[in-house]
Amino acid sequence: MRAIQYDQFGGYDVLKLTDVPAPVPEGGQALVKITLAGVNPLDDTVRRGKLPAAAVKPLPLRPGGFGVGVLIEPGASGLTAGGRVMLSGGRYGVGADGAWAEYMAVDPRHLVPVPDDVDDIAAAALSAGAGHLTAYLALTELAAFRPGQSVLAPGIGGAVGQGGADVARILGAEKAITTATTAAKAERGRAAGYDVIDLSAESLRDGVHRLTGGKGVDVVLDGVAGPLTGDALAALAVGGTLVSIGYAAGERAEINVTDLIWKDAHVRGFRFAQFTPEQINTADARLLDLLARKQMAPMVDRVFPLEQAAEAQRHLMEGSPFGRVLLAVRPEG
Ligand SMILES: NC(=O)c1ccc[n+]([C@@H]2O[C@H](COP(=O)([O-])OP(=O)(O)OC[C@H]3O[C@@H](n4cnc5c(N)ncnc54)[C@H](OP(=O)(O)O)[C@@H]3O)[C@@H](O)[C@H]2O)c1
Repeated sequence: MRAIQYDQFGGYDVLKLTDVPAPVPEGGQALVKITLAGVNPLDDTVRRGKLPAAAVKPLPLRPGGFGVGVLIEPGASGLTAGGRVMLSGGRYGVGADGAWAEYMAVDPRHLVPVPDDVDDIAAAALSAGAGHLTAYLALTELAAFRPGQSVLAPGIGGAVGQGGADVARILGAEKAITTATTAAKAERGRAAGYDVIDLSAESLRDGVHRLTGGKGVDVVLDGVAGPLTGDALAALAVGGTLVSIGYAAGERAEINVTDLIWKDAHVRGFRFAQFTPEQINTADARLLDLLARKQMAPMVDRVFPLEQAAEAQRHLMEGSPFGRVLLAVRPEG
């Protein structure tokens, strides 16, 4: 089968298209023929060798934590062969080979069926970057979010930003606020119906102040970090929670501790390892159902063919996309 893998850590150019034997499922594993795979910031972090060695499968490694495909062998999944499935959880592309390949052996706990009303592109856009899943788990399990509260999820062009804004609205947020770094992206976000602060024209603090009548937001879903985190903490309402999810703008942040002390603020870290496979599957099934009922529409920036995986990863990291970046693995089905 065709697969993208690397046998040394490094830049985009270590990603090679290879011809390798298809995996043989064992111990109840399912075999999935991948149709579309997501391209994610974590794939880039892993490939650059930034994770502790013990967390990563010995090389060679195939990236791709997220994808959709057709179930060839159900294994112990209890699902029907021939049905469409979405990867849900697991450490694929990190601790095990991922979805940038024509076939994948998958622990059956890490599969959810894709409803008939959801096409492959929509399911792949939902799963790529896991923005909606992350937001759902962060709001329902970590941040004690309640309907009527307000949420800030910066980065409408990114998975966590759009996922955060969508899920917050669906869960009953009074305000679901997001950001963009350029006027053009802010305009696209507003045209799609989002409350977007244009960071090229207004500070995060001023924007949140304006949109919440000075109260601040109850929850921040922070996938950006770097220079934004200090401002995001300052934008919290009294008793608010910042969930630290990612670091698209850098790993280091400077904060004013009075934003913690005087507001009785909470800061939580987010990691999928905090949740059981059942929690992750239940959340993904709910999100797929919302997708089937057209309650949200994860955006796609571009679909690359599998052989252009290196270019796709570069586009995600450096091309400032607006929406998800996907790989067409077997577009013919
Ligand atoms: N902990 C977890 O399990 C988990 C789960 C999901 C994601 N993550 C992490 O969360 C982070 C975001 O993921 P993603 O998939 O949403 O990434 P993404 O699709 O690459 O989006 C990154 C977003 O960050 C924004 N951004 C970058 N620099 C900025 C700055 N200086 N100021 C304001 N905004 C800035 C971009 O805004 P513009 O488009 O406006 O430039 C973009 O929307 C990544 O680090 C990812 O690895 C972690």
